[in-house]
Amino acid sequence: MATTITVIPGDGIGPEVTDATLTILEAAGAELEYDEQLAGLAGVDALKNPLPEGTLDSIRRNQVCLKGPLTTPVGTGFRSINVAIRKEFDLYANVRPAMTMVPGGRYEDIDLVLIRENTEGLYVGVEHYIGLEGDPRAAAESVMIITRFGAERIVRYAFEYARANDRTKVTLAHKANILKYTQGLFLDVGREVAREYEGEVEFEDRIIDATAMQLVVNPYDFDVLVMENMFGDILSDLMAGLVGGMGLAPAGNIGKDTAMFEAVHGSAPDIAGQGIANPCSLTLSAAMLLEHVDQPDAARRIRDALRTTLEDEATRTRDLGGTCNTKEFTDAVVRNLD
Ligand code: NAI
Repeated sequence: MATTITVIPGDGIGPEVTDATLTILEAAGAELEYDEQLAGLAGVDALKNPLPEGTLDSIRRNQVCLKGPLTTPVGTGFRSINVAIRKEFDLYANVRPAMTMVPGGRYEDIDLVLIRENTEGLYVGVEHYIGLEGDPRAAAESVMIITRFGAERIVRYAFEYARANDRTKVTLAHKANILKYTQGLFLDVGREVAREYEGEVEFEDRIIDATAMQLVVNPYDFDVLVMENMFGDILSDLMAGLVGGMGLAPAGNIGKDTAMFEAVHGSAPDIAGQGIANPCSLTLSAAMLLEHVDQPDAARRIRDALRTTLEDEATRTRDLGGTCNTKEFTDAVVRNLD
């Protein structure tokens, strides 16, 4: 029986990369039905609401969502809808694979996964100015919050992910040498959880700055990485850079009941409507979604077809040095499905 998922095409190039992705999903034999919903600027235009109640209801009902990029106005207007959705459904694990798709880059055959804690750390938004001697902004303070509950569930998620995907090692990256309380708690809890997987999944911890350097020097030394929110935000982009940039980076945001898979890049207003966007990020996210709903064969076929298409310079999109537009690229991926 087909699984119904919520689809939010999003803003800018969102509808273009979503169309391409749905075409590829159908050709790959994915058993999915689509409940299309609005959010972001598209929601404001149609319903005067960047996150309409109907969209939230749909995600609540279907528990799985595929989301294109949403425009967040700078300065004024509404807050990030991406963050609002993550909060609403407590999508605590941000899963960011970095996999070589285009040969000839800095490294070949990279296959890493970063698991980023998505709800705590410095990004809880507890911050304020401190006024001093007539200067209302003499200082500013942000609070980093780490809870035993949050640390435990994210590290456990990383180990369960490793176990389910035949991966051998989990690296916990931290700054416990300086931030002895917050990062110290994260590390201590991580070590406790790791003990439960002893003999099955290897565990190591590393200081975050050394991890950043080692990822660039020898990425093959890593497998699954887990860390708190801001460190994960930064290193997941570093890892995307190792394999060709954000245009190829998929992401899953996973909670206890609900999961949202999304393109990592933004709405690219500079090229929106031109039919030249690269749909790979959203299509790879859709492959993760297929695995989540237990359709791994369709996921594998899509990844293989994307890889074959990207190997040939003649069938790459412009952002990757090719000449294809979105439709020509999509047609090539469909042709390359086994
Ligand atoms: P962006 O990722 O939209 O664009 C950066 C550059 O990359 C642009 O030159 C763009 O043309 C190019 N690019 C991005 N995706 C591409 C694709 N699939 N194919 C070909 N080229 C691509 O980042 P920017 O310009 O900083 O943000 C634009 C808007 O997107 C902002 O409103 C921002 O808030 C939003 N945004 C949304 C995200 C999300 O929904 N997850 C993530 C990042 C930004």
